Amino acid sequence: MNVMATRPGTSRRLIPPDEVTHEKGTYVMELRKRHRPHARPLKNLDERYVLYESAIETEACERRGNWIDTYCPQARELHLDLGCGKGQFAIAQAQAHPDVLFVGLDFDRACIALAAQKACELKLANCVFALADAEDLGMYFDEGELAGIYLNFSTPHPRKKHADERLTYVDALIAYRPLLEENGWIEMKTDSAPFYEFSLVQFDLAGYDIEWKSTDMHADGIESCKTEFEERLCAKGAKVHGCRAVRAARPFTHEQTAELSLFKYLPEDLDSLEYIPFGMEGFVFNERCRKAKEAARP
Ligand SMILES: C[S@@+](CC[C@H](N)C(=O)[O-])C[C@H]1O[C@@H](n2cnc3c(N)ncnc32)[C@H](O)[C@@H]1O
Repeated sequence: MNVMATRPGTSRRLIPPDEVTHEKGTYVMELRKRHRPHARPLKNLDERYVLYESAIETEACERRGNWIDTYCPQARELHLDLGCGKGQFAIAQAQAHPDVLFVGLDFDRACIALAAQKACELKLANCVFALADAEDLGMYFDEGELAGIYLNFSTPHPRKKHADERLTYVDALIAYRPLLEENGWIEMKTDSAPFYEFSLVQFDLAGYDIEWKSTDMHADGIESCKTEFEERLCAKGAKVHGCRAVRAARPFTHEQTAELSLFKYLPEDLDSLEYIPFGMEGFVFNERCRKAKEAARP
């Protein structure tokens, strides 16, 4: 396998394979994408991986095709929380559905350590976490192994040049298709109206039917366990946009038709925005300043 990685804190600069370090006692991480380490570095990260090892799968490739047999033979299906963060959602779901195995994946080591700690403290038998890049899902899951995938508050990557890093980009959605069982589903939640609009087009291109969609899940009474980001952003006035997309037996295409810059989805009058989506604060601030300066010019 080709080993490529990015240097922590840098973007898209590949490390030559012979320079990639494999940290002792932890999962061998071969990141290909831009990845900024956890904002506040966690202390004793390696020790935590050892301490909470019962809720961390360090050989995710080895589990391909046998996650349920390995972790929870009585489970009727497998749900994946992709970009699980610190695991609050997967853990709450696991508590609510003891007959389902939940796997949480994230490419942030600190997130996986914190998620595993919670799962261990709660002695959950149907929840496990692994350090992994969404790009490599086919290495971790067999055909039809997943009943469903949760994409909760996925990083929106608003700039056009990073559009293909979105977990709902058409190529990614097409790559998830074979891993989903027949009628397998994807549920997404986001605070970002632009990311939601963009994603709906991607689901259509990738051959998924929308079972339900909402621009305010809480007001529409669509119940779902809350994620860390959901709690944080709703406290700032976010409305949860979400949908459930079901893999359909119809043609799909990689041909992109959507506007790729999420900034283009914002209204012309930025002052009319009641809430600025996560990741767009800088852009909106700068644009407002630019327009104010323009207006002040004689
Ligand atoms: C905005 S946070 C949301 C976390 C959590 N789902 C929530 O709702 O609170 C996005 C998470 O996705 C992870 N992530 C982004 N791109 C990823 C990728 N390609 N593979 C794995 N994890 C990824 C990030 O590390 C981060 O923890």
